[in-house]
Amino acid sequence: MWTPGARSLKRVLSPALELRGLTKRYDDGFLALDAFDLVVPAGEFFGLLGPNGAGKTTLISAVCNLVRVTAGDVDVFGHPHGTSEARRLIGLAEQDVNLDRFLDVEETLLYHGGYYGMSRADARRRAKEMMDVFDLRAKAKVRAPKLSGGMRRRLLLARALMHEPRLVILDEPTAGVDFELRLELWRYIRRLHEEGTTILLTTHYLEEAEELCEDIALIRGGRLLARDTAAGLREAFAADTLADVYVKAMATA
Ligand SMILES: Nc1ncnc2c1ncn2[C@@H]1O[C@H](COP(=O)(O)OP(=O)(O)OP(=O)(O)O)[C@@H](O)[C@H]1O
Ligand SMILES: [Mg+2]
Repeated sequence: MWTPGARSLKRVLSPALELRGLTKRYDDGFLALDAFDLVVPAGEFFGLLGPNGAGKTTLISAVCNLVRVTAGDVDVFGHPHGTSEARRLIGLAEQDVNLDRFLDVEETLLYHGGYYGMSRADARRRAKEMMDVFDLRAKAKVRAPKLSGGMRRRLLLARALMHEPRLVILDEPTAGVDFELRLELWRYIRRLHEEGTTILLTTHYLEEAEELCEDIALIRGGRLLARDTAAGLREAFAADTLADVYVKAMATA
């Protein structure tokens, strides 16, 4: 029987994400994250909520090594976030749609697969699957600038999921997305979650978060205000809905 060593056992049991004292001060001196601690257990559907400028994208960018961390530690399934193991475990769909304008839909997915070490055959199979899921098959040979805004967002999501990451980070994935895709997207993300994928979501649609997220963190000014299940938050804030919780939490912050 295979028995894991102490190190790999720690990683099997590790949370998907662990931030310890994560601090980000931008070059102009602005403190966007202030000694932030957060643990997201493996397999959880986690919501990060807060107003514009709260620090959500900064937090995500720090986790994904897109901005330099000022202080603190970030581990992804027990791996320091700067390691190639950690990078491979994360799939990120950024808030800003950043696609290579010279690549068509299929190439975008295949290049991403290649970058993450997938074999050509695997990448082709998976790219087809992703184009089907996100209804992009008819646009396979179309370059990003010639896609509609919603289609670009679909491609961004398809790309994030290409290498079958264990932690999927979605920074406002439904901004600008039509009703049908929203339903489709949530159905798919729910299924991923049921299969064991950890989901970290930011959204300004509070009903969406209330329905989907098992655990929610409210943040503002780079600090954690509250963190609990939607039911726990409603109780703690004596509120009927998550929207009421949000309003109360932000008013007292
Ligand atoms: N490169 C930068 N230099 C200086 N300040 C920055 C930089 N990027 C972001 N900030 C500031 O950091 C703060 C947090 O921004 P961030 O993008 O993390 O917010 P957010 O919670 O994602 O907001 P939104 O809901 O609008 O997406 C803001 O005040 C923003 O102006
Ligand atoms: Mg943001």
